[in-house]
Amino acid sequence: MQKMKKIVIGYIFNENNLTKDERLFLETAEKENIELVLFNTAKDIDEEDIKKKAKNCRIFYNNSAEEFSLEIVKTLETLGKKVVDSSRKNYYDEDKWMFFLKCERHKIPTLRTILLSETIPTAKKELEKFNSWPVVLKRVIGTMGQYVDKAENIKQAEKIIRKFWKKGSERLPIIAQEFVKSPSYRVTIIDGKIVQTAIKKSKGWKATGVYAKHFKKFKVDTELKKITKKITKTFNIKVCGIDLLKKKGKWLVLEINSTPAFDFFVQERKKLIKKVLDFLKRRIK
Ligand SMILES: Nc1ncnc2c1ncn2[C@@H]1O[C@H](COP(=O)(O)OP(=O)(O)O)[C@@H](O)[C@H]1O
Ligand SMILES: [Mg+2]
Repeated sequence: MQKMKKIVIGYIFNENNLTKDERLFLETAEKENIELVLFNTAKDIDEEDIKKKAKNCRIFYNNSAEEFSLEIVKTLETLGKKVVDSSRKNYYDEDKWMFFLKCERHKIPTLRTILLSETIPTAKKELEKFNSWPVVLKRVIGTMGQYVDKAENIKQAEKIIRKFWKKGSERLPIIAQEFVKSPSYRVTIIDGKIVQTAIKKSKGWKATGVYAKHFKKFKVDTELKKITKKITKTFNIKVCGIDLLKKKGKWLVLEINSTPAFDFFVQERKKLIKKVLDFLKRRIK
């Protein structure tokens, strides 16, 4: 039998060293007769080099949420390459205000949210009118809960807004959102299908990857199936993690992450990575 020609796939990441993800991607690719070309945006970002390496890649997978990776994703896209998921996702769907607006427009249940003015006195008036205490304040862009805080009153809210602006290198817009006391429910999607669920619980109210330590699975009910279907269709996002909260037994979508973690359950990491590679392969054809 003639040996089949290898499919070449680009893999973008941003690390000082290869992590378990990279090793599993490499190992699985090998088994699947895929040549995985690594692009470490923390190290090699020489334009000529990228062009040369990218030449034979049929498709790229971006496994990093770092700014540098995003710039390389855009570079590749401008060179006419296809990257999963596209850089547009980062600018629109991961912008927490854009996400809210799109959910609202497509009747996807989400949390009540407003965009705050950049002027503190106006923002205070808006918060008074919003009148939902405690209120959650967030920068439109942020990860790992670094720009997410909770205020019990106007005075605290002002302090938090000022803190966000001091902490970041730039003054990004801030949203105010109703507070919903709930664990965080993660649904991992690969090619439109739910491939994993995980309840993120933590001692404090913020249950992000770093704060939450213990993960359990949960059952997907028909309502959740409907919601995730609507999300993947509306946002046309192929590989993602959707975070939801529950309010009085009803699902509310909190956010969507285009570079989901595969390590909620160590024993399933390999399986998920294989699914991503299979999807990329199908995508080429
Ligand atoms: N409106 C809210 N009500 C209750 N908990 C919230 C709310 N918004 C965020 N959280 C908690 O904070 C965590 C981080 O918020 P999130 O919006 O996901 O920001 P990030 O993008 O930084 O992860 C969430 O996983 C959730 O546990
Ligand atoms: Mg989050």
